Amino acid sequence: MKSFPLALLTLAAAVVATPTDLTSNANHVFNAIHSALRQWGSSLNHNGMSYFLATVPEGTQLYHGTSSEAPVAGMEWLAFEPEHSLLFAWRRRGRRPPGEGPAPQVPLAPPEDDELGGYLHTYRTARPLRLLYLDGEAAAKSAKGTLDTQDYVLLNDTEKTGMFREYERAKGMCALAATEWQGRIDGILRMEGGFEIIMCNFSETLAVERITRAKGRGMRDGGQRFDYYRAITARYDGIGGGRVQLNYDAFVTGFDAKYGVHPLFRAVDGRVLPRLVNATAAQVGMMKGDITALVLGPGASFDWQATADMIVGRYASRLEHLVSGALPTLEDVQDEIENTMKPFIDYADRNATAEIQRCAAQFIPSTAPVPSQSMAASAIWAISTRICASLSSASQQPTHPAAVQEIRELMGYLEWTAWKRCGPCDYDRLCMVPIWPFGSAEDFERPQCLNASQMEGRRGYWG
Ligand SMILES: *[C@@H]1O[C@H](CO)[C@@H](O)[C@H](O)[C@H]1NC(C)=O
Ligand SMILES: *[C@@H]1O[C@H](CO)[C@@H](O)[C@H](O)[C@H]1NC(C)=O
Ligand SMILES: *[C@@H]1O[C@H](CO)[C@@H](O)[C@H](O)[C@H]1NC(C)=O
Ligand SMILES: *[C@@H]1O[C@H](CO)[C@@H](O)[C@H](O)[C@H]1NC(C)=O
Ligand SMILES: *[C@@H]1O[C@H](CO)[C@@H](O)[C@H](O)[C@H]1NC(C)=O
Repeated sequence: MKSFPLALLTLAAAVVATPTDLTSNANHVFNAIHSALRQWGSSLNHNGMSYFLATVPEGTQLYHGTSSEAPVAGMEWLAFEPEHSLLFAWRRRGRRPPGEGPAPQVPLAPPEDDELGGYLHTYRTARPLRLLYLDGEAAAKSAKGTLDTQDYVLLNDTEKTGMFREYERAKGMCALAATEWQGRIDGILRMEGGFEIIMCNFSETLAVERITRAKGRGMRDGGQRFDYYRAITARYDGIGGGRVQLNYDAFVTGFDAKYGVHPLFRAVDGRVLPRLVNATAAQVGMMKGDITALVLGPGASFDWQATADMIVGRYASRLEHLVSGALPTLEDVQDEIENTMKPFIDYADRNATAEIQRCAAQFIPSTAPVPSQSMAASAIWAISTRICASLSSASQQPTHPAAVQEIRELMGYLEWTAWKRCGPCDYDRLCMVPIWPFGSAEDFERPQCLNASQMEGRRGYWG
């Protein structure tokens, strides 16, 4: 959606009762907008703090793998990639509650000899869906904080009944959808290795496209895991195909200082990560109230993620170049910064303030909502202004180390996930980052292109 009717804008702004305060965490909010619905950034920043209203268009294909041929009638899980669902399309052995258990557990199960496996159900959305998107890697059943937005806030599970109680967690959120959210939410959108929906009532929202028999596990070749990874890493830069739209103007995020969760950041296995562990009952109540207001509001907005992409696209490699050591003198650094700022300079009338303002506004259309109307606008203006001001200031530093240091500080603040990318991989390799439950600490520090055999057995990041 390119523009936004004024009435809806007013509504979008009105749904948030207390004014938001994104000033202290604008970098994290910018990154949440940039990484939303993307397997790459959401895998690296796996502790999502935000709740977005999402819509899926009518006619979108979604997949479900199961041991049963019968169409699903009630609540179950749906994947955006069929390779993700195929992990569940196996014949039932022993007791396993429906939908229980993490997907990638399946390849570890003992092999079956049968030629036929379970069933791959292909559904189409019978109408547009309204979903609550929990960002980060919210379907990762890990103890690192990936479940905080669900367990501490939505479900108020202060007893911490256990991270693997997926069925109970899903039932709890669908109960919220039916009660507090007044039936306005069809399900919960989350990510693990692939994006998935906890759909609260299949028969209400989906039409069966086909139900087919999957290949038996005894027939499986060694490429199964790699092919699953290939399918989900194809979504590193986006869920794709316009399959989901988000409202970026009004959302709820633990990064919002108005909730005052303290401390928000804490040490988790050698990283500093946001957690909602210390949210008080009053803070949780405030967040839940805002989520309820959010889910009653409009489902789509100006596409602020596209604006974030323009900013990252323009500055990611320029900033890397400035600190790379390839520019050994102060003059080299100043020249490079000037090249970046040149379009915003009136050489007949130098004025740093005006240059920073023009630079910051480059990718923001005049028709876009302004910060008082849009949370994304606040974060994006804050970040684009910070980048342009730091560049301007660095070019005025008296020494080479001081100029480079200023850019390093800017990059440390921005923490863009683009700086961890592997670069292009050969066709038989994939850029490997930890995606629950796979991946090693090294895969987080220095992701590399790995082939199918190199990817086997890489563990340790998730503990
Ligand atoms: C959350 O749970 C705690 C302890 O079980 C309870 O005291 C509190 O009232 C609950 N808060 C909400 C908003 O339900
Ligand atoms: C699910 O939707 C169907 C069709 O609209 C309806 O008949 C059924 O009662 C719903 N089930 C629940 C549990 O709401
Ligand atoms: C988190 O909250 C708990 C209980 O309110 C408190 O004991 C603890 O000190 C807090 N943690 C920090 C790091 O402030
Ligand atoms: C520099 O630009 C700013 C912003 O456009 C303006 O307010 C200020 O008056 C300008 N300063 C001078 C010396 O022209
Ligand atoms: C993966 O690469 C390694 C090292 O280059 C090689 O020894 C191995 O045979 C490759 N495996 C596959 C499945 O291509």
